[in-house]
Amino acid sequence: MEKEVLIIGGGVIGLSIGREVRKRGVKRINIIEAGECGGEASWAAAGMLGPQAEADEAGAFFEFCIESRGLYPSLANELLDETGTDVELDRAGTLYLAFSDDDVRILRQRFQWQNEAGLAVEHLDASEVRRAEPFVSPDVREALYFPNDWQVDNRKLCTALRQYCEINGIEITERTRVDRLITDQGRITGVRAGGVSYMADQVIIAAGAWTTQILFGEKRIPLKVVPVRGQMLAFHTAKRLFERVIYSSGGYIVPRRDGRILAGSTTEEAGFDRETTDSAAAALFEMACVIAPSLGNLEIADHWAGLRPRSPDGFPVIGRIEGIDGLYLATGHYRNGILLAPATAQIVAADIVEGKPSGYAAVFSPDRFHLGAIRTGN
Ligand code: FAD
Ligand code: GLY
Repeated sequence: MEKEVLIIGGGVIGLSIGREVRKRGVKRINIIEAGECGGEASWAAAGMLGPQAEADEAGAFFEFCIESRGLYPSLANELLDETGTDVELDRAGTLYLAFSDDDVRILRQRFQWQNEAGLAVEHLDASEVRRAEPFVSPDVREALYFPNDWQVDNRKLCTALRQYCEINGIEITERTRVDRLITDQGRITGVRAGGVSYMADQVIIAAGAWTTQILFGEKRIPLKVVPVRGQMLAFHTAKRLFERVIYSSGGYIVPRRDGRILAGSTTEEAGFDRETTDSAAAALFEMACVIAPSLGNLEIADHWAGLRPRSPDGFPVIGRIEGIDGLYLATGHYRNGILLAPATAQIVAADIVEGKPSGYAAVFSPDRFHLGAIRTGN
């Protein structure tokens, strides 16, 4: 019998999984999306592919991030061929600026361990930074340059992934919220959404910050994936002022091809509220002006918020729950879901289609949170 796969959530994770499962030969795939595909965190993100700029130490999570980043050049080319959409993978690299003694100390530590690990990282003094990026503040003391930390236009990425799905016969059901999983003798056999039952051999939850709102029987899945709000500003310029993504300890700016300069971000526990606030706009404006004072002269073109999905330990939750057939989780990507989408999709598809569990299975398994209660119904 041909396998039927149902994916709950059409963000970057759900869409990427749909594409990868299709590529491995599954023909019957349905993505059920509560709103519009790519309309939540995946739309709000900054699109940075920056594991080296963000990491304080090596480890399995860091390796996974590096692996996923490495998939982007071929993904961008394939999506262009498959859909005609350019996802604007920008490989100019990322600068991390130091303004204070603390920043300098952290930067030097990061340079040392990444250099020792054989990763591409360069140390720049203040004059080299200002030569590379003339609009950076004269207060900058030094910087690290990560040539392989890139950026992608996350909104175009979701558009391209969605186009791939449409072109390749993946059914997309939008404005339809999955309320509960259908169980039959301990196995998940489908979902209920808007009063309709959708049956499937394999259900994948890729519902981001809303993961735990989906009912399992009469209860919520006992996994605390919580929403963490992030707000962003966009400045508008007629011409591009910066070449690279620029980080500081206070936040980051991301220059886009269309002239916008994104400035992010806040990290707030505000439940499912994704309203923007004046205080966050002021803080982001100030942070951006520390990086580059001339940003203060630009018009603010936009201000938005999105909800990052954070698991209890901050790492992704990818895999089956032991003892429950027919269900797979791909959630909790927190600050790195755009970066991690290609590698996540590959390990999910390899596991469910080809029965090849990934080496990361133990690290990201839902079972690390001891979800036994879901099995027993307790
Ligand atoms: P989402 O994009 O939120 O998608 C989940 C989807 O599931 C939603 O569309 C939702 O409507 C749907 N859904 C939920 N419940 C149901 C249901 N019951 N039935 C049907 N559908 C449902 N990551 C990076 O890698 N780089 C960055 O630079 C970066 N910057 C960020 C900046 C900000 C301000 C924010 C907020 C996030 C940022 N992130 C970044 C993180 C990244 O956006 C997320 O990790 C990623 O988008 C998560 O993808 P997702 O598909 O799991 O979630
Ligand atoms: N990874 C950037 C952010 O979450 O703001």
